[in-house]
Parts: sequence; C-alpha cells; structure tokens
Amino acid sequence: MLTGRRILLAVSGGVAAYKAAYLARRLVEAGAEVRTIMTESATRFLGPQTLAAVTGVPPEIEMFDRPSVSPHTTLGQWAEAMVVAPATAATLARIAHGLSEDLLSATVLATRAPLVVAPAMHTEMWEHPATQRSIAIVRGDGHVVVGPGSGALAGGDEGRGRMAEPEEILAAVEALFEDGPLAGRTVLVTAGGTREPIDPVRYIGNRSSGKMGNAIALAAARRGARVVLVTTVEAPAGPIEVVPVETAEQMAEAVWSRAPGCDVAVFAAAVADFRPEAPSGGKLKRADGPPEIGLEPTPDVLRGVAAMDDRPFLVGFAAETGDVAEAIAKGKHERVDLLVANDVARADSGFGTDTNAVTLVAPDGSTEPWPLATKDEVAERLWDRVASLLPGGES
Ligand SMILES: Cc1cc2nc3c(=O)[nH]c(=O)nc-3n(C[C@H](O)[C@H](O)[C@H](O)COP(=O)(O)O)c2cc1C
Repeated sequence: MLTGRRILLAVSGGVAAYKAAYLARRLVEAGAEVRTIMTESATRFLGPQTLAAVTGVPPEIEMFDRPSVSPHTTLGQWAEAMVVAPATAATLARIAHGLSEDLLSATVLATRAPLVVAPAMHTEMWEHPATQRSIAIVRGDGHVVVGPGSGALAGGDEGRGRMAEPEEILAAVEALFEDGPLAGRTVLVTAGGTREPIDPVRYIGNRSSGKMGNAIALAAARRGARVVLVTTVEAPAGPIEVVPVETAEQMAEAVWSRAPGCDVAVFAAAVADFRPEAPSGGKLKRADGPPEIGLEPTPDVLRGVAAMDDRPFLVGFAAETGDVAEAIAKGKHERVDLLVANDVARADSGFGTDTNAVTLVAPDGSTEPWPLATKDEVAERLWDRVASLLPGGES
C-alpha cells in the first residue's frame, strides 16, 4: 500500500499515455497522494482534464508563466517517488543526459526522490542504439526501469516496446516503500544460458530458459532487496537493475565486478564449462567440411566469487540428472553456502519448464528434497531460507 505517500506521475507523449490515467487511478486507490506532470506532446494523447479528474489536481505542464515561481524544484521536493510513464525515447534521452529543457526533465534533475521509468515506443525506436545508450545510462544512474514488454503496439504492430502494465508499474512503486525482509540488502542473481561463439552466427549453448533466475530476481525485489540481474535472456518487468551478457566470460566480468558490494549472490544461470578456443572470424562453410573445434575451459564464475575475501552469501545451482551425490560433492568443492540441486532429467523440472524439483544441499552435505513446485514458489521458499541464514536473519 502507498497510504499517504506523495507520488509524482510524469507523462510524456506516446500512445501509451492513455494508460497513465489508469495508473494514476491505481496509485490513488493504493492510498497515494498523486500529482502529475505532462509534457506538451503528452497533452496531444491524453486530455489534461482526465488526469485532473482522476487525481483531483490539474496536471502541471508549463515551466514558465504560471503562479509557482519554481515548479520543478517545488514538485521535486514534494515527491517521495517520481514515475515517468510512459517514457518516450525523447524523454529517456533527456533524462539520460540531464537535459532539463521541459518541466518533466527539469523535475527529474531537481528531485532526490527515487525514479521509476516505464519506456514505451515502437520496437525500432526501442532497439535503436541511441535509445539503448539512453536506457543503459538511466539504469546506470540507479533509476528503476520497468519494462518495456512485448506485445501489441500502436498501429497494429507487434514487438518489444510496449509499456509495462499499470499493475507492474504500481508494484515497482510499492516496492520502493516496502520494508521487506531483504530491505537494505543488495542481491546479485544470474540467469539464462551462456552462448559461446563458434563463428559469428553459431554458438555452443544450453537449454536454460532463465525462468528460475528471473523468478528469484523478482522474488528478491518483492522482499525489498536491491537486485542486480546478470542475464543472457529477457529480464522480467520489475525494479531490477539488468546487466545483459552473452558469454561465460562476460558473465564472469559482470559478476566479479559487482559481487563485492552484494550481500547475496544466487547463481541460477547455466554457464558453459567449455568454449571454442579459436572462434572463426567468418562464417564456417559447409563446403569446407566438418570443422575441428578445439575447446578450452571458461572462467569459473562461481569459484571466482567464492575465493573473494569479502564474498556475499553464496547460493549455487547445480543441474543434475538424478544423482544428488554429485551435487553434494560440488557443494563442498565450490564452498557455497547453499546449493540447489536441480533435477533436469524430469520432464516437469529444470530447463524451460514452469515447475522445478530441487534438493537443497547444505555445506555439511545434508540434503533437503523439496516437492515439485512452480519456479515462483521455489524462489519464494529459497528467499525464506536465505533470509533466515543471513547475519541478522531469524533462524
Ligand atoms: C501518433 C504518434 C505516436 C507516438 N508514439 C510514441 C511512442 O509511443 N513512444 C515514443 O517514444 N514516441 C512516440 N511518438 C513521438 C513523440 O510524440 C515525439 O518524439 C515527442 O517529441 C515526444 O515528446 P516528449 O518526450 O516531450 O513527450 C509518437 C508520435 C506520434 C505522432
């Protein structure tokens, strides 16, 4: 709930602006005091009167020629959280570069409140390198980015770029104020399967879907943790800092540079053990016959963290095909604090499924098989356990 919280909702000029009216209503229903900003373009897509009617206060549009001497600082200081939904490509670029040329972007600079940004645009605009640079900067500045998702876009098109649903944005705002069991903790999660290039078009990969890692990252965010997700797959919408990677080496670099500041690291990604030692610069041709591909070991992401002096609480995942004994040996060998052995031989467990059958392996080798459950349930239960084992947690 957001009872009494002062939320500033800023709407920029995209088709998804119509959803901002519903978001405003949901924020009001959650108990928040809501004030709104619209860019000039936003007023072409949504009538200011609609936001006024939903929130009880007319939206702020102009920077100049209005009673308030300094609307951006007044609004910025008033807000306990600011939400930009939808965030157009233009608005994202202004936020990324600190271009305070309209009321919305000036207020972003003038507030110390946490910022939630929900981008919305056509796929081409979203995938443009300029927008990707903007979003990387916005994330790097520590703002919460929710979505975009994939689905129906304006004009009958389909693809990535659709604004996250108002309920997802509301959840991200609520998470800012949650004092959950992981509040104040930073957790690092890895997800997905790595891809090791053979040539520019082919790779050695694995069947990991990233669903388990995504569920773990979202569950941690729901419990109030600051979450960094290093992933090879599309991240879920939520208040999560996403670091996209592809290879084991990139994952290792991303994880090793971030792990020292983290309280917990959960390694749910399926990382290749070996990679082609000399990937071809050009596409291998059928006419040249089957290539000989020599393999070399990849960096061991988990062991690199386990060896750190100030290492986080470490949760490893081990994909096993039926034999927990191997996982027990691995748990001892890798020096993890908790190992989750994942039975990938079953049709209803492991890669790509929505359910998982796991066995928890403690550092002393004792095991605890959990019944088959959805990956969301496994994630929730895992965080219950981890929270109880952390310093200051309740055993
Ligand atoms: C019909 C229409 C739909 C648009 N939808 C979007 C959109 O979804 N996302 C976006 O980034 N820009 C969209 N644009 C372009 C923006 O309106 C334009 O870049 C504008 O300058 C954004 O200004 P603002 O960020 O100050 O609101 C659209 C333009 C038109 C005419």
